[in-house]
Amino acid sequence: MALTGRDLVSILDVSNDEITLVLDTAEQMATALGWEESTEQQPLAPLDRILATLFFEPSTRTRMSFESAMLRLGGSVISMADAKASSAAKGESLADTARIVSAYCDIIVCRHPETGSAQALAEAASVPVINAGDGHNEHPTQTLTDLFCLRRHKGTLEGLRAGLCGDLRYGRTVHSLAPALARLGCEIIFISPPALVMPEEVTAKVQELGGAEPEVTDDLPAALDGLDMLYMTRIQQERFADPAEYKKYQGVYVLDEKLMKKAPEDMIVLHPLPRVDEIALEIDDDPRAVYFEQARGGVPVRMALIALLLGIVEETQSGKHSGLVEP
Ligand code: NCD
Repeated sequence: MALTGRDLVSILDVSNDEITLVLDTAEQMATALGWEESTEQQPLAPLDRILATLFFEPSTRTRMSFESAMLRLGGSVISMADAKASSAAKGESLADTARIVSAYCDIIVCRHPETGSAQALAEAASVPVINAGDGHNEHPTQTLTDLFCLRRHKGTLEGLRAGLCGDLRYGRTVHSLAPALARLGCEIIFISPPALVMPEEVTAKVQELGGAEPEVTDDLPAALDGLDMLYMTRIQQERFADPAEYKKYQGVYVLDEKLMKKAPEDMIVLHPLPRVDEIALEIDDDPRAVYFEQARGGVPVRMALIALLLGIVEETQSGKHSGLVEP
């Protein structure tokens, strides 16, 4: 199940075993980063590889955690600072951009507003391409980050009961997460306003992969019962053609102290962030609210993914370069 040289466009490009490999490798990266009390951060040694980030949409966590991950591995990063400043603004196709950028780097991370853009890029590029979000379609590395956090807290990924809440129609994170959870044998409950339900094609994938029919509701308080994980998402304002339509759903779900009192004691709350108003600030200190820790995991997870796609995990483990020296 070598991941070397492969692309990651959809979460279903990787099997359950390959997800486990990424998460296990991410645990090693976390150790090398000094996450465990018993270990200190290892010093960096240079890695002669370049990661290129092509972000045609806003990003804070994804882009910075990818860049941080490559730098932590000892590699270098080149970035298209702003899509408006690139040749896309002159009409260059994504395929041509992919061919050109492939000549300048060893691996590409791309975010673009159109569904299918990552696939188009991957087909034209001669180096591995990682989808960091293609419109409202998918965001597979967020799912790996989510699963890393979930496994750390629950000790397993299998057979959990997961509630996915918010804008399931336009939220790409849940379009990657739901099929992954289904394939892991989790029970899934979709919680959204009727107009923002999970797209049919994602529901069909979930049914096919998980066998079980996902439950569907718009009632967040009632859905909390028995959950191992609640995954909150923001209403995706930028995907609404009509701003008045967005206004209708703004604030439709707010997870607050009152709801957390009703929630199971061992239910963790995840959120891909950014948060708008769907999680009240008052619950940030609740030990079940793990979204900031979840975001922090983006670095070791992306270090693991980059190292696996570049085929340098053994090198990193033997300490041939970078700080990832065996203790
Ligand atoms: C998400 C995204 O870009 O889809 N953000 C992220 O990468 N952590 C979620 C969002 O924007 O709501």
